[in-house]
Amino acid sequence: MDQEQIQSVQGTEDLLPGQWALWTKLYGTARRLFERYGYGEIRTPVFEDTRLFVKGTGETTEIVEKQMYSIPTGEDESITLRPEGTPPVIRSYLEHGLHKQRPFQKLYYVGPMFRRERPQKGRLRQFHQLGVEAIGSSNPLLDAETIVLAVAVFHELGLSDFEVRLNTIGCAECRGRLRAEMRRALEPRLSELCDDCRRRIDRNVFRVLDCNNEGCRAIVVELPTVAAGVCSECAEHYSRVKAALDAAGVEYAEDPFLVRGLDYYTRTVYEVRHRGIGARDAICGGGRYDGLVELLGGPPTPSLGFAIGAESTILAMESEQGGAPDEDARVQAFVVCFEDEARQSCFELLHELRAAGVSADMDYEGRSAKAQMRTANRLGAKICLLVGRDELEQGTVTVRDMTESEQRTVPRAEAVAAARCRVEPNPTT
Ligand code: HAM
Repeated sequence: MDQEQIQSVQGTEDLLPGQWALWTKLYGTARRLFERYGYGEIRTPVFEDTRLFVKGTGETTEIVEKQMYSIPTGEDESITLRPEGTPPVIRSYLEHGLHKQRPFQKLYYVGPMFRRERPQKGRLRQFHQLGVEAIGSSNPLLDAETIVLAVAVFHELGLSDFEVRLNTIGCAECRGRLRAEMRRALEPRLSELCDDCRRRIDRNVFRVLDCNNEGCRAIVVELPTVAAGVCSECAEHYSRVKAALDAAGVEYAEDPFLVRGLDYYTRTVYEVRHRGIGARDAICGGGRYDGLVELLGGPPTPSLGFAIGAESTILAMESEQGGAPDEDARVQAFVVCFEDEARQSCFELLHELRAAGVSADMDYEGRSAKAQMRTANRLGAKICLLVGRDELEQGTVTVRDMTESEQRTVPRAEAVAAARCRVEPNPTT
């Protein structure tokens, strides 16, 4: 009977066994560096009360306006698949009283996020982020530290074709004043703006600055920059961030049009953009959000953080390094079974090898001994343990060294020890 084959949902991706090499490298490197910089892992649920994002991420953002996957759970109640990690981390920080234990906390998270975006290269509807949040300090050195950390992750991954973009968008007071000034400047030119920007004037006027439409860009380049209009404290904060980055030897480009798409940002904002991955080139985005903790019901708690986009970073790694070769799972040893009657005995030997810390496998498809040896080679096995009729009768196992193409027969009781001393110790034991 012809059954319909159901496909994956648009904007989602399967990660197949042969594709893990780069992901493992990315996750291992990020975790190692996050921890080296003093961040501890936090894991929050994949879905939250919708109000958390409406309030936290911001009602006027594209994410909340158009991109959330929300599921009604009652009258006026719904839950939403998290589109980003920052509001959930702050919710958890407050809910568990972490601020009472220690107001300053450095937390990191990794996991899937969900946004109903138009799928394109590097833009998915389920994607993954590796993020940090440094909660409870307004020190500009901390802004610099997070940028240094993001750059260290990318360097450690072997990336170099990227650029840090930096800007300041001012504190809440600056933003109120600048918002009014920008509206005044743009109102006479409303008819020249794109439809989206005409809407943005009321809802989120700063987003006009990063509109890609040529007409809008021509207008915003004539406006005074946000950085030039911030108060003296914000200007001082910004110059101290830059001085700290200079001292750390991290290069950056100031970008007066960088405003970021989330409502909570204040003062420092930044993105890391990669030159080899197409139009959606941000591999990391972050910034300060000094008002978010209070907005979510906590005490005034200046904070900041960033999130690295896993899929975008993998694309960047592939573009610079040509992708990792597809590899099957690798083992140190392979048990080769010559006769059906030896299968049970092979299975027991396999179990003993693994219990002794040797990664090992055997054939489950009933293939010939020759084909089994080919599999062993493909899996990179250093040794094969051969069991046939002779071995069964004599209570022995033949241990074949695949790199030196030599073999010797040992008593069955010594087979595991003989295997162990030929393979490197398994790092997981
Ligand atoms: P964001 O700029 O929205 O910031 O996302 C950070 C990164 O996640 C982006 O630079 C991009 O690499 C990746 N990303 C975003 N959307 C998608 C998508 N649809 N498909 C694939 N990758 C995507 C935030 O999410 C903030 N929470 C970052 C932050 C943390 N700010 C302060 N703390």
